[in-house]
Amino acid sequence: LIMIVDFGGQYNQLIARRVREAGVYSEVVSWRHALAKIKEKNPMGVIFTGGPNSVYAENAPHLDKEIFELGLPILGICYGMQLMAQTLGGKVSRATQQEYGKIKLNIHNDQGLFIGIDNGSQCWMSHFDYVSEAPAGFEITATTDNCPVAAMKDVDKNLYAVQFHAEVEHTPFGRKLIKNFVYDICGCSGDWNMGDFAQNMIEHIREKVGGKKVLCALSGGVDSSVAATLVHKAVGDQLTCIFVDHGLLRKNEGDEVEKVFSEQFHMNFIRINAQERFLGKLAGVSDPERKRKIIGEEFIRVFEEESRKLTDIDYLVQGTVYPDVIESGTDTADVIKSHHNVGGLPEDMDLALIEPLRDLFKDEVRRVGEEIGVPHHIVWRQPFPGPGLAIRILGEITEEALFLVKESDAILRDEVAKNGLERDIWQYFTVLPNIRSVGVMGDERTYNHAIGIRAVTSIDGMTSDWARIPYEVLDKISSRIVNEVPGVNRILYDVTSKPPSTIEWE
Ligand code: XMP
Repeated sequence: LIMIVDFGGQYNQLIARRVREAGVYSEVVSWRHALAKIKEKNPMGVIFTGGPNSVYAENAPHLDKEIFELGLPILGICYGMQLMAQTLGGKVSRATQQEYGKIKLNIHNDQGLFIGIDNGSQCWMSHFDYVSEAPAGFEITATTDNCPVAAMKDVDKNLYAVQFHAEVEHTPFGRKLIKNFVYDICGCSGDWNMGDFAQNMIEHIREKVGGKKVLCALSGGVDSSVAATLVHKAVGDQLTCIFVDHGLLRKNEGDEVEKVFSEQFHMNFIRINAQERFLGKLAGVSDPERKRKIIGEEFIRVFEEESRKLTDIDYLVQGTVYPDVIESGTDTADVIKSHHNVGGLPEDMDLALIEPLRDLFKDEVRRVGEEIGVPHHIVWRQPFPGPGLAIRILGEITEEALFLVKESDAILRDEVAKNGLERDIWQYFTVLPNIRSVGVMGDERTYNHAIGIRAVTSIDGMTSDWARIPYEVLDKISSRIVNEVPGVNRILYDVTSKPPSTIEWE
């Protein structure tokens, strides 16, 4: 076990992910409970994360000095390094200018953390404060042109620290550095995998739930499917799944979901067809955040009504994954979009939450799904947002708009599958941008809708690039949509990355 002490930085779960990638089990704990947890769990090593504070600020997160005297290997990153320096008698100062971006690292000692890492490698920096004097006993192991202590260590005390963010992709040797820490310095063996995660989680759920009953809002997407299957494996028929078909799903999707979970998996499965209710509430609404709120609230209302018919339920399963958590705002991160599966539950809902995937990134969820035997076509299904097609129709949602998006999307999916591109593209769908333009069909002037194609590559949905679908395939998709979907006379291809765009259009 590697314990990750969270100081509120935006990359904290990435550190946990890097440790998991190295085949080592990790847990993230708030700095507030760090010392007690570490004593209780006796980890092989500890990593301190970055954070938004200045170590000198009032109420800045801090740790009891005792933590450094336990003899455990500790790696401090960014704020974690500054805190280590300050607590042990070094000096932290404020730079006049932020050091930000890709920076060349001068490595002075290629042992320990830096084994196998080239001097002059690029690292990712993002800080104002810096360690201006390392504490007594520490050796400075790396510098940059602007940073006198970019890395330091005290081998006798087993303490290591880096100012740069070793966990992000922009530090290409970051994975190697974290492996050096967990294998060579902490002595972890690296034989843990997502199958172990699944088994632990199943046992944990079984223990937590006991003989009680569990309810799940199943959407048929990767996340809720994997979450429900984990719980089903843990408690079997104590689980009931409710599938709310809000009418904003892709073509034929509702029937397909019902087939898998009800007929194939034999879960207790209740399908509610609530299309009219949702469309009624959404009539005349075009503001994106309003749409999301309405769908989120209505979803809960429908769900509550249905769950009230069931008796003695104590737990609710949700397929929340880490990017949902971070994008909906945490203590420190701002809200980007209000994802309706996070924080959208009514205050008075008397159910305790089970969120088995809350700390995982999407690709990790897929690996868990494979490990527990969720069918391939579900595990590799592209992500689909809770509010569904509502956020792919700009402006008001009408029957006609839904028809245009569903039909064009079905053609896009069909062609992507026929051309074997499913695994290469993270997400691909059509949007209705609410634009009409002039065209000509036969000899007649048309004044019809444009359809946008959005296709992106991504690793975790947090950032993405537009997918380079071959022109011939785009050509086929374009002519099929224009010919087969009445009311469409123009096709657009979205060529923006995230950031600055988002994947969905709303
Ligand atoms: P954005 O559009 O924020 O999307 O770049 C990132 C990923 O999240 C999905 N997404 C959602 N998923 N509820 C969800 O469950 C939502 O409200 C929601 N909004 C976006 C999106 O499809 C992409 O995979």
